[in-house]
Amino acid sequence: MASGTSRDVLGRGLRVLGRAIREQPRIFAVAVSGSVLFGLLVIASAYVVGGVVGDVVVPAVERGEVARGALALAATALFGISVLRVVGIFGRRLGAGYMQYRLQAAYRRRVTRRYLELPLAWHHRNSTGTLLSNANSDVEAAWYPIAPLPFAVGTLVMLVGAVASLFFTDWALALVGLAVFPALFALNVVYSRRMAPRQARAQRLRAEVSGIAHESFDGALVVKTMGREAQETARFASRAGELRDALISVGRLRGVFDPMLETLPSLGTLAVLVVGALRLREGAITVTELVSVAFLFTVLAFPVRAIGWVLAELPRSVAGWDRVRRVLDATGEMPYGTTTLDPATHEPATLAFDDVHFAYEPAEAHLPGAQVLGEVTFTVPAGKTVALVGPTGAGKSTIASLAVRLVDPGAGRITLDGVDVRELTAASLAATAALVAQVPFVFDDTVRANIALDRAGIGDDEVWAALRLAEADGFVAALPDGLDTMVGERGTSLSGGQRQRLTLARALAGRPRLLVLDDATSAVDPRVEAAILAGLRAPADGAPASILVVAYRRATIALADEVIYVEQGRVVARGTHTELLSTVPGYADLVTAYEQAEQEREQNRTYDEVTPLTSGLEVDR
Ligand SMILES: Nc1ncnc2c1ncn2[C@@H]1O[C@H](COP(=O)(O)OP(=O)(O)OP(=O)(O)O)[C@@H](O)[C@H]1O
Ligand SMILES: [Mg+2]
Repeated sequence: MASGTSRDVLGRGLRVLGRAIREQPRIFAVAVSGSVLFGLLVIASAYVVGGVVGDVVVPAVERGEVARGALALAATALFGISVLRVVGIFGRRLGAGYMQYRLQAAYRRRVTRRYLELPLAWHHRNSTGTLLSNANSDVEAAWYPIAPLPFAVGTLVMLVGAVASLFFTDWALALVGLAVFPALFALNVVYSRRMAPRQARAQRLRAEVSGIAHESFDGALVVKTMGREAQETARFASRAGELRDALISVGRLRGVFDPMLETLPSLGTLAVLVVGALRLREGAITVTELVSVAFLFTVLAFPVRAIGWVLAELPRSVAGWDRVRRVLDATGEMPYGTTTLDPATHEPATLAFDDVHFAYEPAEAHLPGAQVLGEVTFTVPAGKTVALVGPTGAGKSTIASLAVRLVDPGAGRITLDGVDVRELTAASLAATAALVAQVPFVFDDTVRANIALDRAGIGDDEVWAALRLAEADGFVAALPDGLDTMVGERGTSLSGGQRQRLTLARALAGRPRLLVLDDATSAVDPRVEAAILAGLRAPADGAPASILVVAYRRATIALADEVIYVEQGRVVARGTHTELLSTVPGYADLVTAYEQAEQEREQNRTYDEVTPLTSGLEVDR
């Protein structure tokens, strides 16, 4: 991501810091107070040391006698200063740590909450790797300069105090200070400007490396079965190499500037000694004053670095913040309406598509989106089952996502019981319509948690009832811990068909009034699939749901009250299965082709009804 000019980076970085301070003002105040206390005590310690040398050591050397009273006083003062410095450091460190980690936690929460609010269209455009790095390393990077910030602010106060005390002591020494301190500051600014592009690049590469890693682990099955290990490793290694080079170039710059930042105050000390010796000879200053100022320059060197730390981290912080803000400011969320459908009823709902058009958002904003659906009009009457049949890529999954409002149509209306789905509240929509997606998703949790999803009113009885309807009660009962069995990440300890039936049971447990099944039982034995659908159409405990089912198998399709045949995003024909078979050649061809494929498959593999728990690495279709 381009971060503009370096001057920009400084200004924008300071604004990011300003936001942090506005969000945690009290903790920041504690940390800065600690740091200012520390800074003032550093100056004080320099003058005490100067006093010890001027009033105790020099007389002792010159006259051979030690001023015991003065020595005791100085020792007490130094001890008191040290104790207070400890308090200052404690306050600063604790405050800075609290502030940094609180901000990180708060923004991680905000980013992940935003992910869930953003529409599917946004997620289609952003890889999982990017989302992971937004929530992790970008949030961390944004708040990185918070750690040294209180130290740096305290140091600024200390520098002002130091210059003031210099003027108080001697104008010539003050001039040395006025030359050295701004030079230190300027060097720090140059440093951070040089650093800006390097840090931004490193931050971008961090995201890319984690993206590649995530993709290869996610696609481990493909990588292994296709023998792509070497290429995947090479792809990862080349990007990891770029990251290494970027970080080394950051390190090289540090290597050049850090010693300069160390050296400058030492040169200042040298200048103080030269100028101070002359002033001492002129009688303008005392030994106490000269030693105090020289000592001041040596003890200033370290805290001044804190300003450099903040400035050096600013570019990375701005880069991270830009990426975080891109998520927080992303628009396109789908606002929900305020209408609710009767929450008490379990009567089936009527779904209607009225002249619906839809195009997926293009990958790049200036390109036109490809029209996927046009003039789609059909109804799923209350309590009826409608099958959606069509060749691959025809738009069946798109229709399914529209029906439960994962996406909104470009034109036309989709209604549930006559109410536009855009007018419904999120809760009402979720309670009314449930989608069982083409690719089942299972959480790394127990069977029970996967089905109930913490929804109110879903206890074990409801879970078992849903499992029975999904023909999944048998295998769940046979699992070692029943409902308490952990299913592994993405359900890896389950077979494909078991996973599908688990997600079906999850949808059924909410007793939806409209069930949308997107090829949801494809990995299940055809006989079991038909049994499931028959059970859904006439459940033992009363009202059936309205069902929109994407299906391929003749036995399944034949159960539907009506079949809608889609090709290339258009409804080409509708009627009963028997009618379409005799009147629509494309339909007959498709169903027959699927049937043949099914038979071949049946000969070559066994469904999970027959095989026991499989590794989860099987290919489902
Ligand atoms: N996220 C997306 N972005 C852009 N185009 C998409 C997206 N998802 C699907 N499409 C396109 O929309 C069209 C319809 O896709 P859809 O998934 O609805 O088909 P389908 O009928 O469900 O196919 P299948 O039987 O293979 O599941 C296809 O041409 C596909 O390439
Ligand atoms: Mg599909």
